[in-house]
Amino acid sequence: MCGIVGYVGPKSTLEVLIGGLRRLEYRGYDSAGVSVIANGQLETRKKAGKLNNLVAEIEAHPLPTAHIGIGHTRWATHGAPTDGNAHPHLGGQTSRLSLIHNGIIENFAELKAELLASGTKFSSETDSEVAAHLIAKAFERTGELVAAFTEVVNRLHGAFTILVIDQDQPDVVLAARRNAPLVIGLGEHENFLGSDVAAFVEHTKRAIAVGQDQIVILRAESVEVIGFDGKPAETEEFEVDWDASAASKGGWPSFMAKEIADQPQSIADTLMGRLSHDGHVSLGDLAALSPEYIKNIDRLVIVACGTASYAGDVGKYAIEKWARIPVSVELSHEFRYRNPIITPNTLVVAISQSGETMDTLMATRYARELGAKVISICNTQGATLARESDATLYTHAGPEVAVASTKALTSQITATYLLALMLAEARGASAPAELARLGKELLKLPAKVTDVIENLPQAMALGTAHADASSVLFLGRNVGFPVAMEGALKLKELAYIHAEGFAAGELKHGPIALIEEGQPVIVIVPSPRDADSLYPKVISNIQEIRARGAKVIAIAEEGDATVGDYAESVVFVPQTEPIFSAVLSVIPLQAFALALSTAKGLDVDQPRNLAKSVTVE
Ligand code: M6R
Repeated sequence: MCGIVGYVGPKSTLEVLIGGLRRLEYRGYDSAGVSVIANGQLETRKKAGKLNNLVAEIEAHPLPTAHIGIGHTRWATHGAPTDGNAHPHLGGQTSRLSLIHNGIIENFAELKAELLASGTKFSSETDSEVAAHLIAKAFERTGELVAAFTEVVNRLHGAFTILVIDQDQPDVVLAARRNAPLVIGLGEHENFLGSDVAAFVEHTKRAIAVGQDQIVILRAESVEVIGFDGKPAETEEFEVDWDASAASKGGWPSFMAKEIADQPQSIADTLMGRLSHDGHVSLGDLAALSPEYIKNIDRLVIVACGTASYAGDVGKYAIEKWARIPVSVELSHEFRYRNPIITPNTLVVAISQSGETMDTLMATRYARELGAKVISICNTQGATLARESDATLYTHAGPEVAVASTKALTSQITATYLLALMLAEARGASAPAELARLGKELLKLPAKVTDVIENLPQAMALGTAHADASSVLFLGRNVGFPVAMEGALKLKELAYIHAEGFAAGELKHGPIALIEEGQPVIVIVPSPRDADSLYPKVISNIQEIRARGAKVIAIAEEGDATVGDYAESVVFVPQTEPIFSAVLSVIPLQAFALALSTAKGLDVDQPRNLAKSVTVE
C-alpha cells in the first residue's frame, strides 16, 4: 500500500523522487521520506503526514544535488505514522545503507530478536527496519552488496518490495519483489523504479514489470534482473499507454472531480475495438478461452473487493440474463479462506483496478491451484493480477488517482457487459438479433454518460445541502442494489458518516426500523417502461419509508412522469437498457458524495485511514 520510487541518472534526483511520490501518494499518505547519495554521503529526510510536510522539511534542511536516490510514501502497518517510523530506514554501523519497503515482513519479530541479541539498536517500531540492519550487516560481513541483499531477501517471509542504496556503492539501486508490485522504467542514461508506472511515466514510457521473487540491479547505464536464486531472469519490455497529463488534475479541484468527468471517455475507451457499429462484441484479449472451453463453463465466480465487487454484482445480472451461466460474486478475502468448490469448468473472473489488491491476488492464486481458469478485469498494465491470469480484459480507464474509485468502477461494469455479451454469443444463449440490439445500445452509453455528467450540478447541490446529515441510506433493486451499496460506500469513505445500502425488498425485514423523521434516503428507481419492471414495487417501498418520515431523493429514468409525486427531489438519468442503467445511476451518487465531503471541508482525494491499493491481506 506504500508508494516506492527509485532513480539513478543525470537529472536532479530530488525532483524525480518528489514528482514520482506525488503521483504515488494515492498509495499511502501517512508519512514520506527520501534518501539520496551525494559526494559519497548518504542523506535522508523524512516526515510524518502528507508529502507536503516532507517538501517543507527539505526546504528547511536542503539536500545536496544528487544523481541516485530512493523515495517512499507510507500507509502505516507496523508502527504509528510518526517521523521515526517513516521510511527510509537506515542500517550499518555508520548508518550508510538506506532502505524503503512496501508490504509486511511476517517473520520480522524473530529477525528482530536475533538482531537485538547481537546488540543492534532500533530507531523505529517498523518491520522494515530489520531488513535494513540485516542487509547492512551481511554487506559488512561479505563486502558484496548484491550477495548480501540476495541472502537477506531470501530470509524474509511475507510481502515486500524493498529498495536499497548504500553510500559505499553509490552507483546502484537494488530492489527485490515478492508479493508486492515493482516496475522498472527504462531511460537514456538513466533508469527508474516504481510501485507502478505513474512513478516515472513523466520521464519514460518504456517499462518492465518485475516478476515474483526477482531482484533488480539498477544503474544509469544498465538494468540487470536476477531471481532470488541469483540466476538471470527473463524480462519483457512493454510500452506504457498512459501519459503523464492523464495523471494530473488538469485544472479540476480534485482528482476525484476530474475522474468523475472522465467517464464518457473511459467507458468509450473500454468499448473501443471490442464492439462493432452493428453491435457485435469481439474480445481478442480473451482468446485464451477456447470456444470449446466456453461451452463447458458450468459456473462463473467473480472475486473482487470493495467497489470492484459491486462491479461484479452488476456483471452477475448481465451474465446470468444473457449468457445463462450461474454466477456468484465473492469478496476475495472470504472466498480464499472457506474451501470453495471449484472445478476445471469454473471460470474465475477477478476484478481489480490496481491489479495489486492482495486479497484478490490470493483468491486467484488459490483458484488456479484448484484447477480453475482465471481471467481478470484490470486497469493497470503490468500489474501482478494481469501477469498471473490466463487472460486479461483491460479496462482502459487511464490512471485513477483519487482513492475513491469512480471511473474504474464504470469501466469495470462496462467490461462485464462485454464479457456477458461475448459469452452469450459463444454459448448461443441469447438470440443473435437480441445480442446485436444490446451491443448497439451499449455503444450509446458514453453519450448518455455525457448527459449525466452535464446534469451533475443537481446531484452536487443535493450533496452540499446534506452536509450536516449524520446518516444517509440507499435503496435499490436488481442492478440498483449494487448501485445503492456503492453509493453508501462512497459516502462512508469520503464523508465519514453512517451510510448503508439495502435491497429495497429487504427493508421490511429489519432496516425500516432505522427510518425516523427527516432521514435522507436515496432510492434507485428502475425504469417504468419494461414489462418486468420492479417499478411498482420500488414506488411502494418509497411510500413505506415516507410514511415514517424519510426524505427521499430518487435517481430515476427520464420520462418517468410519476416518481416526482413520491420524492422530495428527483435526479433524472437517460433511458437505456435496464441492466446498463447501473452505469448511469451510480454517477450522481459519486457526485453527491464528492459534494457532501467537500462541503464538510474534507480531503476527497485522500480520505483518512485509506490507501488506493490494499497490498496487504
Ligand atoms: O484496486 P482494486 O480495484 O482491487 O481495489 C479494490 C478496493 O480496495 C477499492 O475498490 C476500494 O473499495 C475503493 N477505495 C472504493 O472507492
